[in-house]
Amino acid sequence: MNSDSFDPAADGQAVEPDAPESPSRREFLETTGATVAASTVASFATPAMAQSTDAAAPRTAISVSVNGVRHEIEVEDRWTLAEMLRDGIGLTGTKIGCDRSECGACTVLMNGAPVYSCSQLAAWADGAEIRTVEGLAQNGTLSPLQQSFVDNNAPQCGFCTPGQLMSATALLEANPSPTAVEARAALVGNLCRCSNYNAIVEAVVAAGEGGVA
Ligand code: FES
Repeated sequence: MNSDSFDPAADGQAVEPDAPESPSRREFLETTGATVAASTVASFATPAMAQSTDAAAPRTAISVSVNGVRHEIEVEDRWTLAEMLRDGIGLTGTKIGCDRSECGACTVLMNGAPVYSCSQLAAWADGAEIRTVEGLAQNGTLSPLQQSFVDNNAPQCGFCTPGQLMSATALLEANPSPTAVEARAALVGNLCRCSNYNAIVEAVVAAGEGGVA
């Protein structure tokens, strides 16, 4: 499905590429926990998003893949990618800390590269492949990187952990056996308020030794 086939009445639905039938609007909303207002443009309106929704605001229909699931959605031009992921699609694993490109808590992968989703407009994600922390575990099993974080006590308060994991994922996919120096360099944009950097770096290096796949 592409943007040419965008259906305003169905915006916000997650569409499995090979699924024989798209999930219903009801199924989607039950899955995301969203509540919806009566207007068609409010299919994105979780309570948080409803407060920021302006019916007169410019909107753009986009097609974006998130963790391998395609979404044909309509976004307000002012919405950030982080807002779309959290309030629109319901993927709250991506955290918003500073909301101004300083902490890295909101890091996701866009076309394989780490980006601050608080500083990317959702409309810019049209046609992009987005990966979030929810896409790391497979069939209920933590990825080797996530398991390495657990084994090495890398999460403390945990707020920065999703962003750390996504930056580390990008590193390990480009460099399967990083050194501690390389791991520190890759994570330089991800702040940890608990100052647990040594354990985080150890976890990334250990995951590299075992392979991130
Ligand atoms: Fe995006 Fe801090 S929330 S960089």
